[in-house]
Amino acid sequence: MEIKQIYLKLTELLKNSYSPYSKFKVACIVKDEYGNYHHGVNIENISFGATICGERSAITSLVTSGAREIKELYLMTSSDKFVPPCGICLQFISEFMHPKSSVYIFDSNKRYKHWLFENLLPTSFSKENNKDDIHE
Ligand code: THU
Repeated sequence: MEIKQIYLKLTELLKNSYSPYSKFKVACIVKDEYGNYHHGVNIENISFGATICGERSAITSLVTSGAREIKELYLMTSSDKFVPPCGICLQFISEFMHPKSSVYIFDSNKRYKHWLFENLLPTSFSKENNKDDIHE
């Protein structure tokens, strides 16, 4: 998909955000290793801690489909700033995204900026850190 199409789809998705408490809308599209796109929005809950972010919502769909890699991640929020993923989402993304892969963040004014994932999360708790402890 071209960036213009991604922008249009994110704009559409943003309307599906369920955010009655914060009124802060988030939509995310992730592209997997097969070239398929998966969508997510933030889904809030009256028990606030049960809220799921847009990024994790999209990634659960990617993994459920059988894919295991986020090739590109596109994010849009209702803010006029470029809002990066929260810490929990960065950690969640890091499980499936290569540090050199691309993240595009849109603001509410049709502008976007590009980051390499490694610039959003320069260091993290990873499989490399604890590989001796993982037994499959
Ligand atoms: N939110 C996301 O969807 N993604 C983030 O990375 C940060 C926060 C959502 C959670 C909540 O519904 C709203 O934004 C305000 O925090």
